[in-house]
Amino acid sequence: MYFRNAIVLLTWALLGSAPFAQAENGSAGWLRYAPLSQRAAQLYEKIPRHVVEITNTPVARNAANELMRGIHSMLGNDLQLASDPSTFAIQDSFVLGTPAEIHALVPAWKAAGTIADEGFSISEITVNGHALWIIAGGADRGELYGVFHLLEQIAQEKPLSSDAESPSSPIRWVNQWDNLNGSIERGYAGRSIFFDNGHVRTDLTRVSDYGRLLASVGLNGAAVNNVNSDLRTLEPEMIHELARIADAFRPCGVRMSLSVDLSSPQVVGHLSTFDPIDPNVATWWQSKVDEIYKEIPDFGGFVIKADSEGRVGPSKYGRTPAQAANTVARALKPHGGVVLYRGFVYNNHLDWNDLKADRARAGYDNFHALDGTFEPNVIIQIKHGPIDFQVREPVSPLFAALRHTNQAIELQVTQEYIGQQRHMVFLVPMWKAVLDTDMRAENRSTPVKEIVEGKSFRQPLGGFVGVANVGLDADWLHHPMAMANLYGFGKLAWNPDLTTDQIVDSWTRLTFGNDPKVVSTIDALQRDSWRVYEQYTGPLGIGTLTNILGIHYGPGIDSAEHNGWGQWFRGDSQGIGMDRTVATGTGYIGQYPPELAKVYESLTACPDELLLFMHHVPYSYVLHSGKTLIQYVYDSHYAGAETAATYPARWQQLHGLIDDERYEQTLDLFIYQAGHAIVWRDAVTRWFQRISGIPDRQGRVGNYPDRIVAEDMAADGYAPVDVTPWEAASNGQAVECNRAASCTLTTKLDRPAGAYKIAVQYFDLRTGASHYELLLNGNPIGHWVADATLPPAVVDKQLDGSTGTRFTVRGVSLKPGDRLTLRGTPDGEEPAPVDYIEITK
Ligand code: GCU
Repeated sequence: MYFRNAIVLLTWALLGSAPFAQAENGSAGWLRYAPLSQRAAQLYEKIPRHVVEITNTPVARNAANELMRGIHSMLGNDLQLASDPSTFAIQDSFVLGTPAEIHALVPAWKAAGTIADEGFSISEITVNGHALWIIAGGADRGELYGVFHLLEQIAQEKPLSSDAESPSSPIRWVNQWDNLNGSIERGYAGRSIFFDNGHVRTDLTRVSDYGRLLASVGLNGAAVNNVNSDLRTLEPEMIHELARIADAFRPCGVRMSLSVDLSSPQVVGHLSTFDPIDPNVATWWQSKVDEIYKEIPDFGGFVIKADSEGRVGPSKYGRTPAQAANTVARALKPHGGVVLYRGFVYNNHLDWNDLKADRARAGYDNFHALDGTFEPNVIIQIKHGPIDFQVREPVSPLFAALRHTNQAIELQVTQEYIGQQRHMVFLVPMWKAVLDTDMRAENRSTPVKEIVEGKSFRQPLGGFVGVANVGLDADWLHHPMAMANLYGFGKLAWNPDLTTDQIVDSWTRLTFGNDPKVVSTIDALQRDSWRVYEQYTGPLGIGTLTNILGIHYGPGIDSAEHNGWGQWFRGDSQGIGMDRTVATGTGYIGQYPPELAKVYESLTACPDELLLFMHHVPYSYVLHSGKTLIQYVYDSHYAGAETAATYPARWQQLHGLIDDERYEQTLDLFIYQAGHAIVWRDAVTRWFQRISGIPDRQGRVGNYPDRIVAEDMAADGYAPVDVTPWEAASNGQAVECNRAASCTLTTKLDRPAGAYKIAVQYFDLRTGASHYELLLNGNPIGHWVADATLPPAVVDKQLDGSTGTRFTVRGVSLKPGDRLTLRGTPDGEEPAPVDYIEITK
């Protein structure tokens, strides 16, 4: 190690570039403030050595501290903080304050224009020969955002220049779906940073760190508990505990909010009803809200999920969402709090046999008639698509239907349907596609981003909500690449006009450094990853095709059909896709403004990527690309898996250019993803071939000459079992070892002499840690443990599309007549299951 460090330092001295930290666990996220190379540091030689912070609030003091911390870490300079701004004598300094405060101290400086409350302006002026770097914020939050902006420029080695920015809209929140017991619904990165065992954690250091990350990208609010809210949330003791979370967030200007259940007046308040129009219910909400503000003066407000997936709501009393939202909103209004009422209201007991039934219609059907009836501090929080965070959905028609109501768009940072932070899927391109969709309301330009910013319909309180679900994992989201989604969400909430390239490029530089090879490699990997994931999971708008009744991770195609959940695609032997047309289908398309509806209604105008969301077509239907639908499905899955297979080798080019810890962690995940993309590809293509009866023109589907399925090998102890869903294993079967001792599978090989890769496709359950060993002519050539560290920790207990994975041994010399043996040793309830072995060049 000494030798290696010596070489790195020598290289640094010669090339003038900074060494990377030897080990990094990702906890700093994009706020690493890595020391700049000597050459880059020269850019900032003239940077002042003093800082004056005038505003003197917790947020403003934090801004000054952050500036000192960042400059110290990146440039090695220790800034001197003026202890009393009123005695400030002009010298080279950073000056932080509101415009009026700064002007009073430095009369020569005047703001160029009005600075919005949360906006900032950065400018350099010279007074009496001294350089003053003025960071003016409309209010203290703006100062903090200005500091983060400046530090971000330095970290990316960009020259400092005057700048002024303000956020797109006032609501820039994360939602965390954390339960009071410490688990996180749809969280894939460990347990809650807020709660444990029914209480707020004693140590809230991670909460402060999280607040810093949020503020650094301009996010200003966090609802910290699950939308499926625990009924204890509004108990007095809990409010008292929750106040500590608000305290931890406060210096970062992040206002804490809570998700609440509408039955609270009854359950917590012991009233006989929670009917929103009952005066006692209104009084209860008022006194509860007053109680909260006594403990948490900057409390943000409530998120409400009601009449949805088993949560009670106003429908119980025949009341509307507006009546419910307004009762709560009136209680919050005197304190400046808001209600984010979720548009995710739908019936999950739809009638599959009713061809007019359509879950996608629900948001619009439940809310559009209520437009204009909400209190001014109510915001309807609308998921970007009409179903539920699938890999591709059209935008929700509700955005264009609410023209007299505040709206926020809900995006999902946690990758529930999109690979659960075991697959790299950079979501900014998807969110951009959503935000840039022009809905053409009132036959004019009304892109979704401008609707939620409040611009299109002149609404004052719009914004962005991201379901983040960070956890206690050191790196917050588990996959080192996944933090780009949290960063990107914040950046888009601040400015939805930023491009994907701008966002990914800054993130990579901040997270992994400015080495051009590192930057270009990671940018390229991230940039296409959503489309690649779409290719090998659910293209053409069909939905993700995951098991919707399970954990929403691996393939499980039929699960979407024949039930009340309404995530249907209505596939049969003749064709596939939901007919949502006005002419013959569910009429959903008619919920869009006419110009957009016209595009979707027409089979020829509808973009291919949304075809199966909007139309039911035969498998032989010819797409705009000229391919038949069925061949496109086959080709797309093969292309997607092929690209995923390139990830490990592309990543390996960065060996030595980034720290070992994140390098190894990412490499493991990429290798896993490449294998799981094959599980996806095979499952979906097999399923389509069976249902359509149409073979793959290229003969790949169902025909795997390099594979030896486990059932065909000579077994000692191993016995076949059926796998559900059938498409998740070759021939719908695998083998299990149901005895305490090891079992083996043996086969004789007849490959021409040469070097090969041997991949073992097996299942990794969380019920045990089976051992596997691969032997060639009795000699061990590879061994591994199925310890479920790679698939998400919530992974199923069964052999299915979520647990299927592979282990590969490379560079194995084979010759005809070799004997290959796989030995599996069960552990706990995991019977060392195996699907097949694949031998390739
Ligand atoms: C999805 C998700 C649930 C969540 C719900 C919601 O359906 O699977 O876990 O509660 O969305 O957004 O309310």
